[in-house]
Amino acid sequence: MSKSITFIVQPGGQLQGEARVPGDKSMSHRSIMLGSLAEGVTHVKGFLEAEDALATLQAFRDMGVQIEGPVDGCVTIHGVGKHGLKAPQNELYLGNSGTSMRLLSGLLAGQPFNAVLTGDKSLSGRPMKRVTEPLAAMGAAIKTTDKGTAPLEITGRAGQLQAIDYTMPMASAQVKSCLLLAGMYAQGETSVTEPAPTRDHTERMLSGFSYPVKQDGSKVSITAEGKLTATDIDVPSDISSAAFFLVGASIASGSDIVLRHVGINPTRTGVISILRLMGASIEILNERIVGGEPVADLHVVSKPLKGIDIPEELVPLAIDEFPVLFVAAACAEGQTRLSGAEELRVKESDRIQVMADGLQILGVDAQPTADGMVIQGGGKIGGGVVVSHGDHRIAMAFAIAGLRANAPITILDCANVNTSFPEFKDLAKNLGLALVCEENSGS
Ligand code: S3P
Repeated sequence: MSKSITFIVQPGGQLQGEARVPGDKSMSHRSIMLGSLAEGVTHVKGFLEAEDALATLQAFRDMGVQIEGPVDGCVTIHGVGKHGLKAPQNELYLGNSGTSMRLLSGLLAGQPFNAVLTGDKSLSGRPMKRVTEPLAAMGAAIKTTDKGTAPLEITGRAGQLQAIDYTMPMASAQVKSCLLLAGMYAQGETSVTEPAPTRDHTERMLSGFSYPVKQDGSKVSITAEGKLTATDIDVPSDISSAAFFLVGASIASGSDIVLRHVGINPTRTGVISILRLMGASIEILNERIVGGEPVADLHVVSKPLKGIDIPEELVPLAIDEFPVLFVAAACAEGQTRLSGAEELRVKESDRIQVMADGLQILGVDAQPTADGMVIQGGGKIGGGVVVSHGDHRIAMAFAIAGLRANAPITILDCANVNTSFPEFKDLAKNLGLALVCEENSGS
């Protein structure tokens, strides 16, 4: 029996008050991975207790790492050192989490044991050749399906990986991180060059664990010479979760909110830049550095938005925020155009098609293109029944659209909100969104 979850949002309202959204997903994954490979005990605060990060945590338990928690966002990891992982007894099931699968494929390629990585239906449809091909060039042995998808059958090639100097064909932090983790077990210096800046949490956290990483412009390099020393990690709130309320408070007249302790790493703040270009009022307060990452409180008040051509260089810096940015565009006066975002077609769902379909159901003129979308904003947003296709960020984006709708919006298939933001409905309700959540047992 599986549970299906439906969101129903009553139209209108405004957002008021303060909230602290849960911990950053990317950093939570990496804290478990690097903490496990470290020598000594790592304490993590602010860990995201959601299905994706918990899948990574379970995978490392399955490889013999003793991990306590999470309890109230606190996790204690008894690191086993770079060469201390044990063969898992069973397949490592990674649920919906692309980050877990792609990063683990790099890490496990150079281990002295074999492993099989599996995932849910969405993850099993996502492209894995982007990691298995460069890993094969390093000497890794990883079998995919004929379509280049999971399950991934990894034959550990301890001591046999060779470094590469790789220029990524797409701007992907997962591919970059995968190759850096493989590079920690390869002979020679592994370098990855990115076509545009992507999130750099792996590089920052490696440095936090005292592992040498070299950055030279868009090229990052690593070798096997080094060890990870346990450290304490304070994970800030996830700007990708905060994004729903940044947009909600911007579009709902009379809104005024503060989001506390949000990670504002410059490789993640595209959503703020894009909303500001559209005319949003977002103030960055109390900026500080926490555990090597910039953090701040974000104060948002509603402002009329205007349509823009989204600068392509901002796309990788806001890559997970487009579902809700499309909602902002629907509320903005005039046309918003996104291009250069073909990566959105291979996320947890095809986020271009799924968002265009849903927006059209709500009466918005949203035209999908091969690599983006053209939205004529400022018209009415109607009610209706939309489908999230099991994609957490689609579900939450349409819930936010309710703030500007003129009739109720029903969003089907929302269980996957638990992969990144289980507290969404409670936090959203506290801030003023008229959201109810129906759970049905299905088979
Ligand atoms: C992530 C990188 C991004 C992002 C994903 C998390 C990471 O994926 O969309 O949600 O933690 O490295 P890509 O590397 O595929 O762009």
